Amino acid sequence: MDFKDHITVVEDFPHEGISFKDITTLMENGKVYRQAIDEMVTFAKNRGVDVVVGPEARGFVVGCPVSYALEAGFVPVRKVGKLPREVLEVDYGLEYGKDSLNIHKDSIKPGQKVLITDDLLATGGTIQATISMVEELGGVVVGVAFLIELSFLEGRKNLQKYDVYSLVTY
Ligand code: PRP
Repeated sequence: MDFKDHITVVEDFPHEGISFKDITTLMENGKVYRQAIDEMVTFAKNRGVDVVVGPEARGFVVGCPVSYALEAGFVPVRKVGKLPREVLEVDYGLEYGKDSLNIHKDSIKPGQKVLITDDLLATGGTIQATISMVEELGGVVVGVAFLIELSFLEGRKNLQKYDVYSLVTY
Protein backbone atom coordinates (compact mmCIF):
# COMPACT_ATOMS: atom_id res chain seq x y z
CA MET A 1 0.00 0.00 0.00
CA ASP A 2 1.39 3.42 -0.90
CA PHE A 3 0.11 5.62 1.90
CA LYS A 4 1.32 8.70 0.01
CA ASP A 5 -1.55 8.15 -2.44
CA HIS A 6 -3.90 9.01 0.44
CA ILE A 7 -2.06 12.05 1.83
CA THR A 8 -2.89 15.34 0.12
CA VAL A 9 -0.05 17.81 -0.34
CA VAL A 10 -1.31 21.40 -0.09
CA GLU A 11 1.17 24.05 -1.16
CA ASP A 12 1.50 27.37 0.70
CA PHE A 13 -0.59 26.30 3.72
CA PRO A 14 -0.73 27.65 6.39
CA HIS A 15 1.96 30.04 5.14
CA GLU A 16 3.67 30.71 1.81
CA GLY A 17 6.46 28.23 1.22
CA ILE A 18 5.02 25.49 3.47
CA SER A 19 4.08 22.28 1.68
CA PHE A 20 1.40 20.97 4.06
CA LYS A 21 0.82 17.23 4.34
CA ASP A 22 -2.92 16.78 4.87
CA ILE A 23 -3.73 13.45 6.54
CA THR A 24 -7.49 14.04 6.65
CA THR A 25 -7.84 12.33 3.27
CA LEU A 26 -6.03 9.28 4.65
CA MET A 27 -8.29 9.27 7.71
CA GLU A 28 -11.43 9.51 5.57
CA ASN A 29 -10.66 6.05 4.20
CA GLY A 30 -11.35 3.62 7.03
CA LYS A 31 -9.30 0.77 5.61
CA VAL A 32 -6.26 2.92 4.90
CA TYR A 33 -6.45 4.70 8.28
CA ARG A 34 -6.67 1.37 10.05
CA GLN A 35 -3.78 -0.08 8.07
CA ALA A 36 -1.61 2.94 8.87
CA ILE A 37 -2.37 2.54 12.58
CA ASP A 38 -1.70 -1.21 12.36
CA GLU A 39 1.79 -0.48 10.94
CA MET A 40 2.53 1.76 13.93
CA VAL A 41 1.19 -0.89 16.30
CA THR A 42 3.49 -3.47 14.71
CA PHE A 43 6.45 -1.19 15.45
CA ALA A 44 5.30 -0.64 19.04
CA LYS A 45 4.20 -4.09 20.16
CA ASN A 46 6.58 -6.25 22.20
CA ARG A 47 8.08 -3.13 23.75
CA GLY A 48 6.05 -3.42 26.93
CA VAL A 49 4.39 -0.04 26.37
CA ASP A 50 2.46 1.15 29.44
CA VAL A 51 1.44 4.54 28.11
CA VAL A 52 1.19 6.23 24.71
CA VAL A 53 1.82 9.97 24.73
CA GLY A 54 0.72 12.22 21.86
CA PRO A 55 0.69 16.00 21.39
CA GLU A 56 -2.44 17.96 20.47
CA ALA A 57 -4.19 17.70 18.11
CA ARG A 58 -3.04 15.42 15.35
CA GLY A 59 -0.97 13.38 17.82
CA PHE A 60 -4.31 12.23 19.26
CA VAL A 61 -5.47 10.99 15.86
CA VAL A 62 -2.65 8.46 15.76
CA GLY A 63 -1.87 8.00 19.46
CA CYS A 64 -5.35 7.06 20.69
CA PRO A 65 -6.00 4.21 18.26
CA VAL A 66 -2.46 2.89 18.83
CA SER A 67 -3.00 2.94 22.60
CA TYR A 68 -6.32 1.12 22.16
CA ALA A 69 -4.68 -1.61 20.09
CA LEU A 70 -1.83 -2.02 22.58
CA GLU A 71 -4.18 -1.94 25.58
CA ALA A 72 -1.95 0.85 26.90
CA GLY A 73 -3.01 4.12 28.48
CA PHE A 74 -3.08 7.39 26.56
CA VAL A 75 -1.69 10.65 27.96
CA PRO A 76 -2.41 13.90 26.10
CA VAL A 77 0.16 16.67 25.70
CA ARG A 78 -1.79 19.88 25.21
CA LYS A 79 -1.31 23.53 24.43
CA VAL A 80 -1.35 25.90 27.41
CA GLY A 81 -4.54 26.34 29.42
CA LYS A 82 -6.31 23.15 28.38
CA LEU A 83 -5.36 20.69 31.14
CA PRO A 84 -7.27 21.19 34.41
CA ARG A 85 -4.80 19.86 36.99
CA GLU A 86 -1.17 20.56 37.90
CA VAL A 87 1.01 20.62 34.79
CA LEU A 88 4.60 20.66 33.59
CA GLU A 89 5.23 23.28 30.90
CA VAL A 90 7.86 23.45 28.18
CA ASP A 91 8.50 25.93 25.34
CA TYR A 92 9.15 24.65 21.84
CA GLY A 93 9.84 25.91 18.31
CA LEU A 94 7.64 24.82 15.38
CA GLU A 95 8.31 24.57 11.67
CA TYR A 96 6.23 27.77 11.56
CA GLY A 97 6.04 29.56 14.92
CA LYS A 98 6.60 29.04 18.65
CA ASP A 99 4.40 27.78 21.46
CA SER A 100 4.30 25.98 24.81
CA LEU A 101 3.08 22.53 25.77
CA ASN A 102 1.67 21.06 28.97
CA ILE A 103 1.33 17.59 30.46
CA HIS A 104 -0.38 16.58 33.70
CA LYS A 105 2.32 16.15 36.35
CA ASP A 106 0.87 12.90 37.69
CA SER A 107 0.13 11.32 34.31
CA ILE A 108 3.28 9.20 34.07
CA LYS A 109 4.81 7.19 36.90
CA PRO A 110 8.60 6.80 37.19
CA GLY A 111 9.78 3.75 35.22
CA GLN A 112 6.70 3.49 33.01
CA LYS A 113 7.47 2.58 29.40
CA VAL A 114 6.25 5.25 27.03
CA LEU A 115 5.59 5.23 23.30
CA ILE A 116 5.58 8.74 21.81
CA THR A 117 3.37 9.25 18.73
CA ASP A 118 2.54 12.08 16.38
CA ASP A 119 1.31 12.49 12.83
CA LEU A 120 4.38 14.38 11.65
CA LEU A 121 8.09 14.77 12.34
CA ALA A 122 9.13 18.13 10.90
CA THR A 123 11.83 20.04 12.84
CA GLY A 124 11.29 17.72 15.80
CA GLY A 125 10.60 20.62 18.18
CA THR A 126 7.21 19.31 19.27
CA ILE A 127 8.41 15.79 19.89
CA GLN A 128 11.60 16.89 21.68
CA ALA A 129 9.48 19.03 24.00
CA THR A 130 7.14 16.08 24.56
CA ILE A 131 10.02 13.71 25.29
CA SER A 132 11.63 16.17 27.71
CA MET A 133 8.43 16.35 29.78
CA VAL A 134 7.96 12.56 29.74
CA GLU A 135 11.54 12.04 30.93
CA GLU A 136 11.23 14.73 33.59
CA LEU A 137 8.32 12.71 35.00
CA GLY A 138 10.50 9.57 35.00
CA GLY A 139 9.02 7.87 31.94
CA VAL A 140 11.24 5.66 29.79
CA VAL A 141 10.81 6.31 26.06
CA VAL A 142 10.78 2.91 24.34
CA GLY A 143 9.92 4.21 20.86
CA VAL A 144 8.83 7.21 18.83
CA ALA A 145 6.40 6.67 15.93
CA PHE A 146 5.17 9.04 13.22
CA LEU A 147 2.86 8.72 10.24
CA ILE A 148 5.01 11.15 8.25
CA GLU A 149 8.63 12.29 8.39
CA LEU A 150 9.88 15.35 6.52
CA SER A 151 13.44 14.13 6.19
CA PHE A 152 14.76 17.37 4.64
CA LEU A 153 14.09 19.15 7.96
CA GLU A 154 16.37 16.64 9.70
CA GLY A 155 14.25 16.34 12.84
CA ARG A 156 15.56 12.80 13.29
CA LYS A 157 19.07 14.17 13.96
CA ASN A 158 17.99 15.30 17.42
CA LEU A 159 16.33 11.96 18.18
CA GLN A 160 19.37 9.73 17.73
CA LYS A 161 19.06 8.35 21.27
CA TYR A 162 15.65 6.89 20.41
CA ASP A 163 14.18 4.20 18.22
CA VAL A 164 12.29 6.26 15.65
CA TYR A 165 9.75 4.90 13.14
CA SER A 166 7.97 6.72 10.36
CA LEU A 167 5.44 5.20 7.96
CA VAL A 168 5.96 7.67 5.11
CA THR A 169 8.95 9.88 4.30
CA TYR A 170 9.07 12.99 2.12
C1 PRP B 1 2.17 19.89 13.83
C2 PRP B 1 2.25 18.37 13.75
C3 PRP B 1 3.33 18.05 14.75
C4 PRP B 1 4.25 19.23 14.65
C5 PRP B 1 5.47 18.87 13.83
O1 PRP B 1 1.38 20.22 14.91
O2 PRP B 1 1.02 17.76 14.07
O3 PRP B 1 2.83 17.94 16.07
O4 PRP B 1 3.52 20.28 14.02
O5 PRP B 1 6.37 19.95 13.74
P1 PRP B 1 7.80 19.97 14.43
O6 PRP B 1 8.43 18.62 14.23
O7 PRP B 1 8.52 21.04 13.64
O8 PRP B 1 7.63 20.33 15.86
P2 PRP B 1 0.71 21.66 15.17
O9 PRP B 1 1.47 22.37 16.22
O10 PRP B 1 0.51 22.35 13.85
O11 PRP B 1 -0.64 21.32 15.88
P3 PRP B 1 -1.98 20.52 15.47
O12 PRP B 1 -1.64 19.05 15.50
O13 PRP B 1 -2.89 20.89 16.59
O14 PRP B 1 -2.43 20.98 14.10
